[in-house]
Amino acid sequence: MAAAEHDLVVIGAGPGGYVAAIRAAQLGLKVACVEEVSALGGTCLRIGCIPSKALLESSERFSEAKEKFETHGIHVNGLTLDLAGMLRRKEQVVTTLTKGVEALFKKNRITRYFGHARLDGPGGRVVVADGKEEKQLKARWILLATGSRSAELAGVKPDGAGVGTSTEALRYNQVPKHLVVIGGGYIGLELGSVWRRLGARVTVLEYLDRILFGLDAEVAADARKILEKQGLEFRLGCRVTGARAEDDQYVVDIEGQEAVRGDRVLVAVGRIPNTHDLGLESVGIELHKKGFIPVNDHFATGAEGIYAIGDVITGPMLAHKAEEEGIACVERLVTGHGHVNYDAIAAVVYTHPEIAAVGRTEEQLKQAGTDYRKGVFPFRANGRARTLGQVEGWIKMLADAKTDRILGVHIIGPHAGDLINEAATAVAFGASSEDLARTCHVHPTLGEALREAALAVAGRAIHI
Ligand code: FAD
Ligand code: NAI
Repeated sequence: MAAAEHDLVVIGAGPGGYVAAIRAAQLGLKVACVEEVSALGGTCLRIGCIPSKALLESSERFSEAKEKFETHGIHVNGLTLDLAGMLRRKEQVVTTLTKGVEALFKKNRITRYFGHARLDGPGGRVVVADGKEEKQLKARWILLATGSRSAELAGVKPDGAGVGTSTEALRYNQVPKHLVVIGGGYIGLELGSVWRRLGARVTVLEYLDRILFGLDAEVAADARKILEKQGLEFRLGCRVTGARAEDDQYVVDIEGQEAVRGDRVLVAVGRIPNTHDLGLESVGIELHKKGFIPVNDHFATGAEGIYAIGDVITGPMLAHKAEEEGIACVERLVTGHGHVNYDAIAAVVYTHPEIAAVGRTEEQLKQAGTDYRKGVFPFRANGRARTLGQVEGWIKMLADAKTDRILGVHIIGPHAGDLINEAATAVAFGASSEDLARTCHVHPTLGEALREAALAVAGRAIHI
C-alpha cells in the first residue's frame, strides 16, 4: 500500500508534540500526529501535570477545611474524606482536557494515527504499528516528541503493588499509612504533600544534602522547614540501595543508615527520555550519553529532515519548555524564524506554599562571578497575603549590579506559580528592577510583593 503523505509527521502527542502539530497546521502544513496511547496530551495531561495539580488542589482544600477554616471563623463538623470521589474528579479533569486536544486536532485538520511509530530509514519514512496492522507514512519533516518516563532505581523494582512511580501515586485507592518517597525533587514533594495532607505519614529520602536540587538554595532550605511544619519528614544524604517486601510492609534500605519501613514506596528519582524502538539507528541518530536525542539550536538532529523537542532532548523536563520548543521548531521550518529564550523559562513546584523561579540562582551568579544586587520582600508585609491568611514565604529578586537588568526571581509563597509569569515577562523583555519597581501594581494584590522586591533591590522597599 502506498504511504500516506504529509508535510510534517509529529511522533508523540504530549504538550511538545500536540502544540507543535497545531502551530504547524496554523502555518498551513498538512500535519499528522502519531500517539501510541488512546488519549492525547502525553505525560502532562494523562499522568503528570494535570492529575497531580488536581489532587494537590483537592488535598489542600481538605487540609484547609481540617486545619485552617477555624481561623476564618468557619467550623466544620463531621469532615470526612471521599478518596474515590477525589480520584474521580481528577479523572474527569484529565478526560475533559484530553478530549479537548482531540477537538483541537479536528479543528486544525490534523490527522491522528494511533500506534507506536518507528523511523524507517532516510527519506521521511515512518511506520506505525497498532498491534493489528502497520501503516506507512511519508513526510518532508518528522518531529520526534516522544517525551520521557520515570527513571528506575537499581534494587527498587516497581511491583504493581506497593512499590511504584508517580503514575501509581496518582491513584492509590487508600491513603497509605506510611509512604516512603525516594527523591526530594518535584514529584517527591508534590505527591508527598498530597498524601501527607490526606493523612499519610510521609518520609522523603534524598540522596543529596538538600531538597529541590537546581532551585535557589535559600528557597529550598526554607521550603524544607515549611514542609517539615506540615509533617513531611526528610532524611537527607540517603542513598537508597534497595526495597524489599517483608510481612505486609516494604523495607527500604539505605547505604550506611537505618532502613525505613512503609506500606507504599514512591520512586521519584528523575525521568529518562523515550527513545526505545524508535528506529533512530535506521537514520543514523546516535544518542547523547544520558540517552537524550542530540539536536542543534534549531532542534535538528543529524538526520536530514528529522527534528526533536521536549523531554526527549536535554534541558528542563517541563511541559511549557516542550511547548515552546515545538512552536519555535515548526515556525523556523515554515518561516525561517523561531527561537526559545531559555533564560525566561520559569519553573514551579506546586507545594503549599508554591515555589517558583525564573533566571539565575544566587549560587549560579556567584559561580559565574557576576556582580549582582539583591532585593527581598516577605509576604508577611503584603496586605493581600494577610487577607488570604497565607503569610509564609518571600520573594528574592537578583539584578545586575551595573545595568540593573533582572537576572533571577525566586519566590516561595502564595500563588508563586502565577506571580512568576510577571517576572518571566520582565526577564524576556530584558527589564530592569527599576522598570518593575516603577510599574504601578494593583492594591491589594500579591503582585505588590514582587514590586516591593524590585524596590528592595535599590534599598527602597516601602512596607519593610
Ligand atoms: P510527553 O508529555 O511525555 O509526551 C510524549 C508522548 O509520546 C506520550 O504520550 C507517549 O505515549 C508518546 N510516544 C512515545 N513514544 C512513542 C512512539 N514511538 N510512537 C507513538 N507515540 C509515542 N511539567 C510542568 O511543566 N508542570 C508540571 O506541573 C508538571 N507536573 C508533572 C507531574 C508529574 C507526576 C510528572 C510525571 C511530570 C510532570 N511534569 C510537569 C513534566 C511534564 O509532564 C513533561 O515535561 C512534559 O509532559 C513533556 O512533554 P513532551 O511532549 O516532551 O512529552
Ligand atoms: P527530580 O530530578 O526533580 O528529583 C529527583 C531527586 O531524586 C533528586 O533530588 C535526586 O538527588 C534524588 N535521587 C536520585 N537518586 C536517588 C537515590 N538513590 N536515593 C535517594 N534520592 C535519589 O525528579 P522527579 O521528582 O522524579 O521529577 C522528574 C521531573 O519531572 C522533574 O525534574 C521535572 O522536570 C518534572 N516535574 C515537574 C513538575 C513541575 O513542574 N511542577 C512536577 C513533577 C515533575
